[in-house]
Amino acid sequence: MPPQSALINVMEKAARKAARSLRRDFGEVENLQVSRKGPADFVSAADLKAEEVLREELERARPGYGFLLEEQGAIVGADKTHRWIVDPLDGTTNFLHGLAHFAISIALERDGALVAGLIFDPIKDEIFWGEKGKGAFVNGRRLRVTAREHLSEALIATGIPFMGQEGHERTLGEFAALTHRVAGIRRYGSASLDLAYVAAGRFDGFWEHGLQPWDIAAGIVLVREAGGLVGDIDGRQPYTFNLKNILATNEPLFTPLSRVLRGKEV
Ligand code: IPD
Ligand code: CA
Ligand code: CA
Repeated sequence: MPPQSALINVMEKAARKAARSLRRDFGEVENLQVSRKGPADFVSAADLKAEEVLREELERARPGYGFLLEEQGAIVGADKTHRWIVDPLDGTTNFLHGLAHFAISIALERDGALVAGLIFDPIKDEIFWGEKGKGAFVNGRRLRVTAREHLSEALIATGIPFMGQEGHERTLGEFAALTHRVAGIRRYGSASLDLAYVAAGRFDGFWEHGLQPWDIAAGIVLVREAGGLVGDIDGRQPYTFNLKNILATNEPLFTPLSRVLRGKEV
């Protein structure tokens, strides 16, 4: 493993500190589950608390950098060339229901380009990071996307729109086109971890509509640094935040997946 850069150390330290409070709060959720009011308000407070810890830690280590925070929005910094993109709790629905699959996601943009990403799953104690030109790693082990070339062997992750969001019909169409061609489809409930798992070769691909920069910024760095492609289901790449959906996979599966998801023949 190459030595971790000072930048990744800063991101890891912030994530580990925020994770301590998330882990404690996750333990509490199980007790609140049984109460009639449920843990929803408690979880939004946990989310905000974690974001505040991340903001403070990152600000202290790199004064002046800007932020795009899921909860607090955009904060313009004195240094206009750098911006942290942060989701303090990705997988809120899982957290709320006591499901141990959620993460903290931190990315750094320099001059508009994503240069580093770190995703920390505090329950499984897995820390994924990637830095432009330096590769992607999980707990120190190098990551590589899968080499599978056939859809019939591929395990694909996605996200399904929540109640109140658009795209339910489209989702059914995509499932109808894909389910009988792939080894399996998974909906784990945390887009950042879905991307980290593509980078780690656990999933062969991932697609989802309507995600926000904080859901995917760190994961994009990981997939790219693990040798994968990130674009959209219309086959455009590289991915930019103005695209309406994301498709991340290995090179051989990029075109077949994008075609099948659009209802075309491979
Ligand atoms: C959500 C998760 C989920 C995805 C949603 C996101 P949140 O983020 O990443 O997997 O399907 O679209 O909003 O709300 O848990 O931070
Ligand atoms: Ca999110
Ligand atoms: Ca979130």
